[in-house]
Parts: sequence; structure tokens; C-alpha cells
Amino acid sequence: MAWATTTLAVCGLGAAALATSMVALGRRLELSQAKHRSLAGHARMARRLAGFVPFYDYDEDRFFDSDGAPADIANLRRAGFARLSELYKTRFTETIRCSAEAAEAISDLQFTGAYRVPFQYRRVVRAHLPLGTFLQSSDGLTVTDLDGNRFYDLTGSYGVNVFGYDFYKDTIACGAARVHELGPVLGAYHPLIIENAKRIREISGLDEVSFHMSGTEAVMQAVRLARYHTRRTHLVRLCGAYHGWWGDVQPGIGNPQPAHETYTLAEMSEETLHVLRTRRDIACVLVNPEQGLHPNAPAPTDSSLLDSARSSHFDKAAYTDWLKRLRQVCSERNIVLIFDEVFVGFRLAPGGAQEYFGVRADLVTYGKTIGGGLPIGVVCGRKDLMKRFRDDRPADICFARGTFNSHPYVMAAMNEFLRQFEAPQTQALYRDLDAVWDGRAQRLNQRLADEGLPVKVANMSALWIVCYTQPSRYNWMLQYYLRAQGLALSWVGTARLIFSLNYTDADFDAVADRFVAAAKAMAQDGWWWHDPATTNKTIKRAIMKEMIAHRLFSARKH
Ligand SMILES: Cc1ncc(COP(=O)(O)O)c(C=O)c1O
Repeated sequence: MAWATTTLAVCGLGAAALATSMVALGRRLELSQAKHRSLAGHARMARRLAGFVPFYDYDEDRFFDSDGAPADIANLRRAGFARLSELYKTRFTETIRCSAEAAEAISDLQFTGAYRVPFQYRRVVRAHLPLGTFLQSSDGLTVTDLDGNRFYDLTGSYGVNVFGYDFYKDTIACGAARVHELGPVLGAYHPLIIENAKRIREISGLDEVSFHMSGTEAVMQAVRLARYHTRRTHLVRLCGAYHGWWGDVQPGIGNPQPAHETYTLAEMSEETLHVLRTRRDIACVLVNPEQGLHPNAPAPTDSSLLDSARSSHFDKAAYTDWLKRLRQVCSERNIVLIFDEVFVGFRLAPGGAQEYFGVRADLVTYGKTIGGGLPIGVVCGRKDLMKRFRDDRPADICFARGTFNSHPYVMAAMNEFLRQFEAPQTQALYRDLDAVWDGRAQRLNQRLADEGLPVKVANMSALWIVCYTQPSRYNWMLQYYLRAQGLALSWVGTARLIFSLNYTDADFDAVADRFVAAAKAMAQDGWWWHDPATTNKTIKRAIMKEMIAHRLFSARKH
């Protein structure tokens, strides 16, 4: 009898254990199904695979015919490259000299310098088309390098420059004058911080704010608050989205450590909504609304532009619908919905992405432009979520302090920013914003198509991505032709053009003229020669073969 009871109990326990593991297995499966099927959706695997990519590069012959172009085309390219190289070396002499000197000591410069073009082409490009990173001044829409060359600025200073550099020169100078008497005294506040908090509350529609030094720190704090208040462990970041370089939001390539408490889930996906509806360990969902321009893909860069598969199309209605559904599930499950507006805040609408998409978040992070040109990160949130201690548990706190948080000079520049932002002439820049920038993108695309050039642009308001319409390995060369035409680009090249909102139609047309001229010069120099048998797939396959051959070859050598 006792034996039978024991057997029954063991069987019962076994069945219960089996049922539990089946449930756990089911949950794991659901998580897998909610991942985007691209490598970007599989952060760990991407990091592991990245470790296998071998370095190899093309010599000065292969550089010009790596796509199998015939000799006459390779020669055309060689001649165009030599002309461009001569132009760079004579026109940008001092700027290049200074940049080369600085790069020896500044690791950041070495990094950006190494990742402007696909690594196979890097050595030849760096030898003959060195780039300068130095500027001496900015004025209106232009910046001037150390050799006196003026460029239209399409870098947008990483997104800080929403209203034009003169605007920020003014906010910094006026702000500094207003806090001069206090000076850089930290810990205590200058009274103007009260007005900053009031205005940001109005803009965000949220109850409280906290000030930090960067967008990365603002995101760290928002996630920490979500974990503290929900007492749950995991954050959900959506596939491809950038949220700064903190480890938990950068679980894949770029971070040597895995992020154990981050789920990277697909955007605009039913499976993701299902996971949010059913799991109990999710504290928050981080949304970077910029992803509307390229859902589930990382912010592009020319350093990986080996074919023409890069695509982008902003469907505002579809993305709005996704955000609304996300909002609803988060509300049902008490998951904190965080909008990371560090990049897009103040760029899409005066009330930011919340206003633009008509969706309210529980916490919002701002950064970049709101500092009036100085370093900043801001968290805004519902009162209950912003609280950093518990009244009934005095030792249970959510710590967040920083020496330079609320620096008087930053607060003063922010104060000027917020005041001038409300001025009618600044608010006028938002009038018909989408229609204006969509129209400009369409006009440029029409001109490119009329010229038969294999280039087009996609945009979310004044945020642009250059895409390519015909398979090619050489699209990244366009960034060098654009610079030669006096257009300043950031280190990601044609992957991201950021216009400040104060471009007039005439200014924009001047940029468009240069853009078309650059693309025409590149076409004339033979870079877009095309073998009809080539597709993006065949290019990918060929590169994969090169990598495998190189790995085998170098393994045999060692
Ligand atoms: C959406 C988003 N979040 C966070 C960050 C990080 O901000 P910061 O570079 O100020 O640390 C960035 C920076 O580009 C960003 O675009």
C-alpha cells in the first residue's frame, strides 16, 4: 500500500514536472517565434557569427573590378578615383593633415575612420581618399573646414541640430550669460530649472522629470525605474532599434557581454504582442520611433553597403497602428511603455513622437537637441513611476545620481532652447512639415529617375536614407562624390542624411543639385556598371564565398 502510494506520488510529481517543463518549453518557443528572422533579431547568434568574419581586403587591381567589371570599366573607375583623390588631397589638405595627427591619439577617430566603407575596400580608400574630421566654423546651413571649404551640413550633429546651428549658438551664449553669476556650481540648482521642468511636463504631458548627462543614461534610468516599480526583470527592445550603448540595450554586435535580461523581439508583430500578453517577467518595452523608417532593421551604415538590398519605406499609418496596439497590451499587462525620443523628439512634431503618432507612453526619454546644444538626457514619466524610494521600505531605493546632472550651464542652454522653441518663428517650421519634406524627397527622386541614376531616397520627415535601385558593390563610393560636391555627411555616409528644419526650398534645391551632380559623376566614372546577371543575392553569395575561402586559406597557413 505504502509502495503504491509512493509510486503514485512519484508519478504525480513526475507528471507535474513534465507539465511545468512543457509550459516552460512552450513559452520559450513563443519567445523564439517573436524574434525577427533576420540576424538583427538574433542578437547572440549575430555576435557569435561576427566573431567568425575574417578580415581580408582587395589590392589595387581587385578594388576596381571586384564585381567582375571588364577592363575598360575598371580603367574608367581607376581614372575617376585618381581624380577624386587628387581633389581631396589638394582641396582638404590641412583638414586631412590635422585629422591624421589626431587619429594617432584619439581612439574614437580610429574607429569611425575604419568603418566608413566595407572593410574589403578600406585600405585603398584610406590611402587615397583620406577624410578630414575637423571644422572651423558653422554658419546658417553650412559648416567650413580648416581649408575654408563650405559644405551644406547633412550630418545634423547626430540629430542635435533641429533648428540650425545659429539657433544653438544663441541658446548656449544666452544661457551661459544667464547663469554666469552662479558659475559651474553643482548639486544646488539655479532657479531656471523650475521653468525647464514645467515646460517639459507640458510638452510630454507627463508628471515629473529627471535630468541626466546623455541619452544613454536617460534610457538606463528609465529602464531601471521600470524594473524597480514592476519588480520584473526583463526589458523588451525591438529588433534593430538603437537606444545608446549601455549593455542591456545593445545585446548583440558591439557589446562583448551578452545581455541576459533583454528580449529582442520583432516590431510590428503579432507574436511579439502575444509574448507581452503572456509572460510575467517583462518590466518594460522600449520603443525608438525612428524605427518606423526601417522596422526590424538596425540603423544603416555605409560600412556594410556591399549590395543594394538596403531598403526603407515609412508607412505612418501602419506604424501608428502598431504603436497603438503595443500601448494597449502594455496597459493590460502593466508593462511600462517607454518611448525613447532621444533622437526623434522635437524633430517630428512640437510634442514629439507622442504627438506625431497620437500614442502616449508611460516614460519618455529626450536628449540631444533639448540641451540647447549641450550634453543632455531627460526622463519624463508618470509620478508613480518616477519615484525612487518606497515610503514603507526606506532601504529599498532606485538609485540614480550623476555629478553633472542638472549642470547650470546645460540647464540654462535648455531653458533658452525651450523658450525659443515656443517662439512663433520656430513653431512655424513645423507647419506642413511632412508635406514639405515628402515633397522634397519626391522631387529629388524624380530628378534621379529622370537622369536614369540608380539612387533614391526614403524619408521620415527630414530624416533621410539613401537607397540604391540596382545591384552594385560600389554604392558606398557615393559618399565621396557627395563630399566632393560640398555636402557634409556623418561617418555612416549615405545611410543617414539629417536635415535641420530651417532649410528653405531654395536651400534644399541647392543640395539636390549637388546630390544629382555627385550621382551623375559617379555613374560617369563607371561605378554603377551592371552585369544583368548580378543580383543582390549573387553579390551576397560571392562575398560569402570570399570569406569562406579566406578562412580556409588562413587556417591552412597557421
Ligand atoms: C534613440 C536613441 N536613444 C539613445 C541614444 C543615446 O544618446 P547619447 O548618444 O546622448 O548617449 C541615441 C543616440 O543616438 C538614440 O538615437
